[in-house]
Amino acid sequence: MTEAWEPEEEERPRLGASGPVKVKVPAKINLHLGVGPARPDGYHELSTVYHAIALHDELTARRGDTLTLTMEGVGAGELALDDTNLVIRAARALARHTGVAAHARLHLRKQIPLAAGLAGGSADAAAALVACDALWGTGMTRDDLAAIAAEIGSDVPFLVYGGTALGTGRGETVSPVLARPTTWHWVVAVADGGLATPAVYAELDRLRALRAAPPALGSTDDLLAALRQRDPEVLAGALGNDLQAAALSLRPQLADVLKAGRAAGALAGIVSGSGPTCVFLAYDASEANMIASALESAGVCREARTATGPVAGARVV
Ligand code: C5P
Repeated sequence: MTEAWEPEEEERPRLGASGPVKVKVPAKINLHLGVGPARPDGYHELSTVYHAIALHDELTARRGDTLTLTMEGVGAGELALDDTNLVIRAARALARHTGVAAHARLHLRKQIPLAAGLAGGSADAAAALVACDALWGTGMTRDDLAAIAAEIGSDVPFLVYGGTALGTGRGETVSPVLARPTTWHWVVAVADGGLATPAVYAELDRLRALRAAPPALGSTDDLLAALRQRDPEVLAGALGNDLQAAALSLRPQLADVLKAGRAAGALAGIVSGSGPTCVFLAYDASEANMIASALESAGVCREARTATGPVAGARVV
């Protein structure tokens, strides 16, 4: 645990770019996901610790006469590329806020699986904000972009910042966790098929109404203290996700994934966000490789990848 990411503001063009602008954006996991009761607006009050991991999508923005989106990689041919796509919604929102014409040719290279609990769609929206800001020279600060991001989805502001951060409200209020740089080693077990986030929250409400859900997580204090100790065994004991019981109820096979990861030597395993991806904390990089191979050999997931965290949020590369 030596080399690690530290937050920095990169140079962003202020006058707009004539050439292509390429943005890299990470996936997120939640080290702690505390879910409160449903609010009158249907969202749940969260207290979460977001963590950006080195599993990236890439969005390239070029000048164009209209707004278009093309894509390759995971989900190509499946994902709608029209105005319902979060990338297009984000580009339009930035144009509206800054009074520029929403003209760009956007191309997405996708690796983050869909409906996986890794906030892939939200990540792409964050990438679109950063890319179009650079392409159009709209000169937004990260805080400006995060405010627009909150209109697109609860996880989008975090993907604008990256790193490790506390999320409150419906997740859209983000404040960075300042800790001495540490690199954590994760294994990401990608499932076949996704889970719809609203269905997982609804299942948690149902389980809670039946008093069939485990007790809700407490505050994020233990998790934050564990991060400061920089010891993976301590962090392992502090990971938690209130949505896990709901994801397991909808997808009971996830219990086998969690068991297989622990049997392979993971210090801990949890469902990521609303699932169905499971993430495991490994002691170091070589343990992470071994756990990923063991998960793949056990045949309990579609694919197991290693990823370090924390990493930067959406950035021009
Ligand atoms: O904010 P976002 O559009 O990503 O949320 C997707 C869905 O997840 C919401 O429509 C809601 O059903 C659920 N959700 C929730 N409470 C949150 C965040 C999301 O119930 N804090």
